[in-house]
Amino acid sequence: MTHNLTIVDHPLVQHKLTLMRKVETSTAEFRQLLREISQLLAFEITRDLPMTETEIQTPIQTMQAPVLDGKKLALISILRAGNGLLDGVLDLIPSARVGFVGLYRDEETLKPVEYYFKAPSNLENRRVIAVDPMLATGNSSVAAIDKLKEAGAKDIDFLCLLAAPEGVARMQEAHPDVRIVTAAVDERLNENGYIIPGLGDAGDRMFGTK
Ligand code: URA
Repeated sequence: MTHNLTIVDHPLVQHKLTLMRKVETSTAEFRQLLREISQLLAFEITRDLPMTETEIQTPIQTMQAPVLDGKKLALISILRAGNGLLDGVLDLIPSARVGFVGLYRDEETLKPVEYYFKAPSNLENRRVIAVDPMLATGNSSVAAIDKLKEAGAKDIDFLCLLAAPEGVARMQEAHPDVRIVTAAVDERLNENGYIIPGLGDAGDRMFGTK
């Protein structure tokens, strides 16, 4: 679609996503797959992290070796389903600071209602990665990014597992500076705001609440 959307078409990501979509996949399997796929998505989203070199001593000699440089990362989980992505991303970036935006979707209006916000300090000096598995209507994701910008964030990526074209369009309109990274963009939303064909309610499937 546009320059601000990255679809991670790696075979392992696509295979795991297919397993997650299947209705017969258990809660335990779903959670494990989500953790694995988030590691792969984190690999993609961190591809352009700035590097520097530092002198180290190997058992043989000293060398100039590459290490991460630049802004510290802040991972922001959009509750509650964001926590499923968060764990896998933290596996790869254990030193990242972590924040939470609590939003639930009013099932009638499909509008986000905020109930919690806690972000790391110095958000303006960090690269922020907001995580939420499903970019559906985009209402809650856009509201979460609004909050992060109010708190000072300037450099924001949005990492999700699955997106609807409507959600991508909404995010790109509201926050054209935010890069979206996802494993797939599905066909459309249904009348209840679910992604079609999708994988159902990500929170329910990862926490076994249905
Ligand atoms: N949230 C979900 O968990 N699934 C959808 O299909 C849409 C929003």
